[in-house]
Formats: sequence, C-alpha cells, structure tokens
Amino acid sequence: MNKGTKIAIVGAGRVGSTLAYTLAASGIVREIVLIDADRLRAEGEAMDIVHAVAFSSPVTIKAGEMVEAAGAALTVIAAGAAQQVGESRRALLQRNAAVLRGMIPEIVRINPEGLLLIATNPVDALTAIALRLSGLPSMRVFGSGTVLDTARLRAELSTHYAVDARNVHAYVLGEHGDSELVAWSSARLATVPLNEFCKMAAMSCTSEDMAAMESRVREAAYQIIRRKGATNFAIAKALMRIIEAVVRDEGAVLTVSTLVEGQYGIQGVCLSLPAVIDASGIRLVIRIPLSKDEEAHLVQSAAAVRAMLESIEH
Ligand code: 2OP
Repeated sequence: MNKGTKIAIVGAGRVGSTLAYTLAASGIVREIVLIDADRLRAEGEAMDIVHAVAFSSPVTIKAGEMVEAAGAALTVIAAGAAQQVGESRRALLQRNAAVLRGMIPEIVRINPEGLLLIATNPVDALTAIALRLSGLPSMRVFGSGTVLDTARLRAELSTHYAVDARNVHAYVLGEHGDSELVAWSSARLATVPLNEFCKMAAMSCTSEDMAAMESRVREAAYQIIRRKGATNFAIAKALMRIIEAVVRDEGAVLTVSTLVEGQYGIQGVCLSLPAVIDASGIRLVIRIPLSKDEEAHLVQSAAAVRAMLESIEH
C-alpha cells in the first residue's frame, strides 16, 4: 500500500498539523491533504510542512476541501474542541458530536472505501458515533483510544526499570480517559512478569510504585495541558503508529478504540482493547487474560462510556 498512499487529515489544529508534519517526515505516504474549515490555517500549515520535508523523501502535502479526501486510504478526524485546563475529555462530547455529525456522512459519501480514524475527544464515544453515522463495518472505523496511554505506561515502566520501552509489554485498556485501567496482571518485561524482573534486577516493585505510575499515566494529559495548553506530540505519534500499521499492512497489535462485541461480556460500546491492525483496518480484537479486578474495572469503564452516549441524543 506504500506506493502512492494518500492520507486525509480533517482538522489542522495542534494535533492535526503535528500529525501532518510527523507523517510527512516519515516518508511512508505519498500524499497528505490537510482539511480545515479555516482554509488559511490549513494552507499555512501545509506550506510550512512542505518546506520542512524538502530535506526528506518526496511527499505532496496540501490544504484541501473535504472533497479531496477522495481516494485516501484513511481519513483522520482531528477536528473539534480540545480540553481546556482542568476540563475532562467527557465535557467535549456535545460540541464534538455535533462536529462529527456535520462531517462523517459527507466523508463517507466522498470516500466510501477508506478507513476512518477518530482522534477527537472523547474519542471512545465519538468513535461509536462516527461508526453509526458512517454505516461502515466496525473494522473500518476506529479511534486512537489508549494507544497513547499505553505508550505513556511503557515510558513510565521503561524509566522505572531502565529497560527499552520496546521491550515492555503492558496495556492500558478501556476508556481513553478517567476510567481507563492498566492490565498489570499481564504486564511483562522481556516476557518476564514485573515482580520476577524486579527480583532478578534487585529493584523496587511495590504496589505503590505501580499505583504511582498508573496515576501519572491517567493524569498525564491534565498535567501537560496545565503547562502548555494542549497535548500534540505524543498523540500525533500514536496516530502515526496506527497509520503506519495500516499503510504497511503490518498486523501490529495496538490498543485502538473499537466496537466491543461480547469480549468480557461487554457489548455495543467502543473501548480500547489490543487489536490486530493491518491494511483492512481491525483484523482481530484480542481478549487478553485479565484479573477479576481488572475485568470489573473494564466493565465499569464500558459503563462510563455508555453513560456518556446515553447523555446525548446521537
Ligand atoms: C491526551 O491524552 C488530550 O486525549 C489527549 O493527550
């Protein structure tokens, strides 16, 4: 899919423009169209990125109207309001649901074959809304979910144990938000359970350590937004990782937000579980072993997302 792959990004704000730059610099796609109601903003971002990638492999990046999402392998929705300082992602639901209602049907009409990747928050509820509005199969409509949180967790564990984050296997599941959970029972370092690794390395591995890491992951966005007003680099990289798995047909396992259909007794809500991602979208949702407490936490998280959806007519 590499040759001539086109990606459309709707929303040229901090996330969309950082993603456009990251994607352009990656060299894995041939064309990027940046779409925003503020056409001048989209043009300015595209022009700036064109000059940046003059130093790397050729890629066409331009501002466009929605109609130019035609032919894109995947369209990223990064449009809408972003969290303000101290604001929860859930508070954005009403406004951003309206944004998606105004664009999803049009995008699907323009590009009935492409995949849809939702980044706008609250991403799980909006992925469910986008899926319903699109009429597409659930394997082709998914959200960034806790791919970012899983990266934050791996960064925490990598720092704590001084081990390359790529050798850390641990997942954040559920809502990308306040009710998310860490699947500690299945966390591994080089295939070794954390407590065994701690013994081998004579390192601290207390439940307080785990709780502190989990809290920092769950609070990360609030802490970053309080300092710089938004998050953009890490979420852009998380989106880039998902796009890479699609464009390269990798079969990568990523915790994207997807329609859960029966796993853990959860039905009909979008949440993050490990899923196999390839050129077709979501090929398989993996049911990893969870402890009883973790499973109960995941069910609670599903209930929180369902409650959000029930709080607005959509
Ligand atoms: C984040 O977690 C704001 O959802 C965004 O960085």
